[in-house]
Amino acid sequence: MNKKLIRNGHIWSAHDDFIGDVYVVDGKIAAIGKNLADVYSADEVIDADGLYVIPGGIDAHTHMELPFMGTHSADDFETGTLAGLHGGTTSIIDFAIQTQGNSLKDCVNHWHEKADGKAVGDYAFHCAVTDFNEKTAKEVPEMIDQGITSFKTFMAYKGVLMIDDKMMLGLIKEVRKYGGLVSVHAENGDLVDSLVEQFRIDGTLSPKYHALAHPPEAEAEAATRVMDLAHFHDAPIYIVHTSCRQSLNRMKMNFLREQRIFIETCAQYLLLDDSVYDLPNFEGAKYVMSPPIRKKDDQTALWHSLQCGHVHTIATDHCPFNFHGQKDMGRDDFSKIPNGAAGIEHRLELIFSEGVKKGRMTMNRFVEVMCSHPASIFGLGNKGTLAIGKDADIVLIDPNEKHTISTKTHHHNVDSSIYEGWELTGKVKTVLSRGNIVVRNGKADQVTKGQGEFLKRDKFNFSL
Ligand code: URP
Ligand code: ZN
Ligand code: ZN
Repeated sequence: MNKKLIRNGHIWSAHDDFIGDVYVVDGKIAAIGKNLADVYSADEVIDADGLYVIPGGIDAHTHMELPFMGTHSADDFETGTLAGLHGGTTSIIDFAIQTQGNSLKDCVNHWHEKADGKAVGDYAFHCAVTDFNEKTAKEVPEMIDQGITSFKTFMAYKGVLMIDDKMMLGLIKEVRKYGGLVSVHAENGDLVDSLVEQFRIDGTLSPKYHALAHPPEAEAEAATRVMDLAHFHDAPIYIVHTSCRQSLNRMKMNFLREQRIFIETCAQYLLLDDSVYDLPNFEGAKYVMSPPIRKKDDQTALWHSLQCGHVHTIATDHCPFNFHGQKDMGRDDFSKIPNGAAGIEHRLELIFSEGVKKGRMTMNRFVEVMCSHPASIFGLGNKGTLAIGKDADIVLIDPNEKHTISTKTHHHNVDSSIYEGWELTGKVKTVLSRGNIVVRNGKADQVTKGQGEFLKRDKFNFSL
C-alpha cells in the first residue's frame, strides 16, 4: 500500500474550509481531519503548513493536437497535459471532433490514438458532432456506453464543423433520450462569414478585423437560438466559451423559465480586453480566437455573473498555435490566422491571482468553478472535490508566492503567450494525480509518458 499524509494545510471545498490533514492510500482519499498523524502511518508526509489544499483542477475545454485551419494545435496530449499538471490541472476534457462524412466511432478511436499512452494527466472526451444523420443518431448510445456522455456542436465554422438547426434539434433529442448533455459553440456562422466576406472586399484584413467579424450579436443570437431549441426538447444545454454581456443577458432571461442552462467562460474573456487587437507588428494575431477577446464592459458582466453563480465553469479553450509558422499564415488575411491560444498551465494561477486575491471571487467559488462544477456537470464522479473515496487529485498552492508568466519558462509547446509578463500572486507548488506526486516545488516529478488515464464519464445528472 502507498500511503501519503498531507499535513496542516488550509483545505478548501466549494462550500467550506478548515485547517487539517488529508490521508491518501493507494491513490484515493482515505481520511480528512485534524491530527491524522496520531492515527495513521504514512510512507511520505507532505508539509502543507501555510498552503492552500484544493482538488485537482479540471479543464473541461481543451484541443490537443487539433487539426484546424490547415495546421494542428501545437500541444499534443503529452505536452498539453504536462503543462496542465504544472498549473494544477489534473484532468482535461478534450474534444474528439468528427470529420464530416465519417462516423463518431472513427473520430473517438482517432482521439484515443492521440491520447492513449501519451497523456500524463487524466483525460476524457466530449464527442463533437459535425454531421448528424440517421447513422450518427444510432451511435449516440454507443458513445454514452463508452463514457463519452457529452456532445459538442458548432454553430459556426461553416463547411467544416458547423451543423444546421435541423441537425441540432435531432442531436439534442437523441442525446436527451440517452441521458447525455449537448454543448455548443454559439456563434451565428452565416453572420460571421458574411462579415469576413465584406472585410475581404474592403481589403481590411489585419487581426483586429477578426474581432469585428465576430460581433457579440453573432454570439448572442446563436446562444438564444440554441437555448430555444433545447427548451423545446426540455433538454439541458451547456454553452462553451461565453464571452459577452449580450449572451449572458439572454441566458439570464432563460433562467426565468427554469431552463437548465450551464455556462462556461474562459480565463481570457475575464482577463483581457479588445485593446490587444491594436498591438503593433501583427501581435494581435496571438489573440485571434473565436469568440474574440471582448470589451472591458463584457469582463465586468462576466465577473458579476460568476459572483452570482450564473456562470458555472471557467475553462481555457486551450488551442495553441505558434506565432512563427502558424499564426503568421494569416499575415495578409486575418481569416487565415488559426483560431486559438494556450492557457491550460495558467488557468488556476491566473484566476486565483486576479479573482480570489483581488476580491472578485471567493475561494469557495474558485474551487467550484475550477474543480467541482466541471466534475459534476460532466459526470466525473471520482473527481472535483476532496472527499473520502475520491481520487487523490490534490493541489497545494502557496497563496502568497509571486511569479511572472513567461514564454521562456512556461510548459506550453508554443512560442508565445497571451499572458506574457503577467505578474501573479499564488503559485502551484505540489500536485498529486491519483495519489502520485507529479509536481514537487513547482517542477514535474517522476512523470511518465502515458500515465494519464482515460476517464469514462457518468450520464448527465446535475442540478444546481
Ligand atoms: O478560437 C478557438 N476557440 N479555437 C478552438 C476551436 C473552438 O472554437 O473552440
Ligand atoms: Zn469554440
Ligand atoms: Zn474550443
